[in-house]
Amino acid sequence: MVEGWIASPGAALQGAPEIPGDKSVSHRAVMLASIAEGSSRIEGFLEGTDARATCDAFARMGVRIDVPAAGVRVVHGVGLDGLRAPGAVLDCGNAGTAMRLLAGLLCGQRFDSVLVGDASLSRRPMGRVIAPLVRMGARIDAAPGSVPPLRIHGNNSLQAIDFENEVSSAQVKSAVLLAGLYANGETRVREPRPTRDYTERMLQAFGAEVSFRTGEASVHGRPALHATDVVVPADFSSAAFLLVAATLVPGSEIELRGIGVDERRTGLLRVLRRMGADITQVPRGSRGGMAVADLHVRHAPLHGVEVDATEVADMIDEFPVLFVAAACADGSSTVRGAAELRVKESDRIATMAMGLRALGIRVDEMPDGATIHGGRLRGGRVDSQGDHRVAMAFAVAGQLADGEVRIDDVANAETSFPGFAEIARSAGCGIGPVVAGRA
Ligand code: S3P
Repeated sequence: MVEGWIASPGAALQGAPEIPGDKSVSHRAVMLASIAEGSSRIEGFLEGTDARATCDAFARMGVRIDVPAAGVRVVHGVGLDGLRAPGAVLDCGNAGTAMRLLAGLLCGQRFDSVLVGDASLSRRPMGRVIAPLVRMGARIDAAPGSVPPLRIHGNNSLQAIDFENEVSSAQVKSAVLLAGLYANGETRVREPRPTRDYTERMLQAFGAEVSFRTGEASVHGRPALHATDVVVPADFSSAAFLLVAATLVPGSEIELRGIGVDERRTGLLRVLRRMGADITQVPRGSRGGMAVADLHVRHAPLHGVEVDATEVADMIDEFPVLFVAAACADGSSTVRGAAELRVKESDRIATMAMGLRALGIRVDEMPDGATIHGGRLRGGRVDSQGDHRVAMAFAVAGQLADGEVRIDDVANAETSFPGFAEIARSAGCGIGPVVAGRA
């Protein structure tokens, strides 16, 4: 296993690096296909450890999932009531999406189940899904502090609720909607700021009675879900690393093809353009009901930017790489209203601030954001704290640094962007594995 990367300036980025499938869509496709009637083919499936953990969980519950080729899954759905008791704990690995959505889906089953995760996931808050699910009649035990493992006691008489979510979270919304499939009546979720609506759209594609508009979604319980083929778009959140690298490295020009460009996911594009980025979007129709586009990215100098609370949900996973863009921009950038970053795979405000400081950048940390003072990045050693997006963000930072940037604890990049280092290197980035034993 690669324990670290050394990142340093390479060549200008060129070509059309291939971006793997969308993580959020891959999880949901496997979940809904598993409880639908019939066989669904999923293409463009993300071969990352997160989405594979979801496949393994359903396989343990009796769902046959064939792998005819890399990036393809054929899921032989067992119907809404066809899942079987898993007989062992369900290991969600690093995947918050797997754990929170499964909690919703499993609390309406006739059997008990236990969800566990790795060290990072075992620190993440689950109270936000437990509270609404308990209102629906679920019984869920968590470890002190409402963290995993989650012991879910099956209850096949859930009640629909009308739920006003306090946090803008697609995972919480999705958990409640998936529990709503097993509830009597119509389950409704409202959220303070709209989040990605993939669960809603996919429920619709699989034949559920669902309605949704900005900031609100509802689903009727006990639908008959029918199998549907899904083509997963490339993940904008993975594309983001190369998009920022190409923007920052002089002389770069790349094309990122078939990227999912849903408005709820592409806040980073809007912010980078405000900073002066040169990114053109060529629409390429839709995949699985989701807009896709090719993104043409050319190097451009950036200046500082302000990001406020209204923009956070649309770029929730892109802050690590935005922090790097801000570190290389002319002037200061401020992010506010982003306290959610503190409960991601790591505390992303703290992890990014610490790493950027180690590379010579001044960062003022606030409870809900940070001010990053653009400057010259120097070489140094940073710890990603096992956070995949932090590791990849610092690999981008290395492309602009005066010396080598050593990034520790990078194995989790495989959760969302398998082959990241190789793909980035073939686009021109200077990045290689840490040789074992090197201090
Ligand atoms: C996700 C929602 C977001 C995001 C995560 C994936 C999803 O989490 O950060 O990477 O697939 O629904 P929150 O719902 O906690 O904001």
